[in-house]
Amino acid sequence: MSNRQNCDSGSLSPLELYERVTTQGDKVRSLKAAEAPKDEIDTAVKLLLSLKLMYKATTGQDYKAGSPPTDFTPINNAPAITEDDDFVDPWTVQTSSAKGVDYDKLIVRFGSSKIDKELISRIERVTGQKPHHFLRRGIFFSHRDMNQILDAYENKKPFYLYTGRGPSSEALHVGHLIPFIFTKWLQEVFDIPLVIQLTDDEKYLWKDLTVEKAYEYAIENAKDIIACGFDINKTFIFSDLDYLGMSPGFYKNIVKIQKHVTFNQVKGIFGFTDSDCIGKISFPAIQAAPSFSSTFPQIFKGKEDIQCLIPCAIDQDPYFRMTRDVAPRLGYPKPALLHSVFFPALQGAQTKMSASDPNSSIFLTDTPKQIKTKINKHAFSGGKDTIEEHRKYGGNCDVDVSYMYLTFFLEDDDKLEQLKQAYTSGALLTGELKKALIETLQPLIAAHQERRKQVTNEMVKQFMTPRKLAFEF
Ligand code: TYM
Repeated sequence: MSNRQNCDSGSLSPLELYERVTTQGDKVRSLKAAEAPKDEIDTAVKLLLSLKLMYKATTGQDYKAGSPPTDFTPINNAPAITEDDDFVDPWTVQTSSAKGVDYDKLIVRFGSSKIDKELISRIERVTGQKPHHFLRRGIFFSHRDMNQILDAYENKKPFYLYTGRGPSSEALHVGHLIPFIFTKWLQEVFDIPLVIQLTDDEKYLWKDLTVEKAYEYAIENAKDIIACGFDINKTFIFSDLDYLGMSPGFYKNIVKIQKHVTFNQVKGIFGFTDSDCIGKISFPAIQAAPSFSSTFPQIFKGKEDIQCLIPCAIDQDPYFRMTRDVAPRLGYPKPALLHSVFFPALQGAQTKMSASDPNSSIFLTDTPKQIKTKINKHAFSGGKDTIEEHRKYGGNCDVDVSYMYLTFFLEDDDKLEQLKQAYTSGALLTGELKKALIETLQPLIAAHQERRKQVTNEMVKQFMTPRKLAFEF
């Protein structure tokens, strides 16, 4: 039975539907806050999604918390929203398709632009570098204003990189590595300053963590980020709990953003309700502020007009839609963005990995044995049920998690193509594809662990000290 039937909401008026969505949203939030079992949360989220879709189908408008329906003429030429549509925000990534989120549809819904062949060729032409395999393989698939950044690079105008991490646990999973690996490549290719925000304040507000624990996780996570190989002379890493108290530039920008965004707007963008604590409601301004160069006077000599480029997965886009909306009103340039797809959970591409479920992903702390066991036991297979059938019909790479993981981490294009051909034809069995993934990930994670061991407390302190970087402004 579908969620639509479960809801039994076909005959509800727009206002009644609106109220059902609001109540269900509150329910999802309280289940998450109480850390209820994952399947209970998933079911509640599915129902919420389904109610939102019904609301949209009935009124022609997106559900906006705090804005009950008034004028609801259905929009016939709007992109069709069906029960199959995906739900993506900073806290939930949900789809019913085994192939994962439909990213082309998301580009339309979010109003971003596709990273097409033309843009990739321009990046290659302008930088003189072979595009990273994350670009060649569509892993970074969407952008906002990347052409402006390339214009700036061609005209020798400065810009900088900004990315971040919400330190909710001690260990990062491989999905978290994606934006950092790509950011490192961008830093090398463009040779520009990089700021990395650790939102320990966000995790304190959203999770059951003390302020001290959140800060401790920030420091631990900083070590993993440093182990990705960032240049200490060109990178500033900061914890919000730490840096905010010592930076008037940062706080002034937060207050300016807060003055220009209403409660209604953040309710619409993030789904906050009246019962959310005010810390959550004002947090988006804290994630927005590092998009403006005047947040870092020590790096940019007080200049306010240096444009920012933000690499992240698409779940973070709501923060930066808000930032881009507010920027012109503050007289600042809008940040440009590069969005990646999600690295899927081992169990399948329907959902994002969870740091609280050790079997949903490979963690940077996993041993070679754990990597092997997790992949063999949990990686969703696109192979057939019996060897005979598999040999006859072949496997399906579109839903096979081991193949998906290889597209992220096996850099050799020819080897990847050979594996795909062999698996699709049935010559290669699931166990053999899994073996190829295990052999790719084990050395990669071991090398990361080795580099992390070399990261001293002194290095962390240096990366996290507000200072001038190796650039003149
Ligand atoms: P967090 O800690 O949830 O995630 C850190 C970064 O990893 C991306 N990410 C993923 N990428 C691919 N596959 C996945 N399965 C996956 N899961 C997470 C996220 O998009 C993010 O880029 N609030 C933020 C921290 C933050 C931030 C920023 C992120 C502050 N400022 C600026 C990006 C840019 C957070 O909690 O991220």
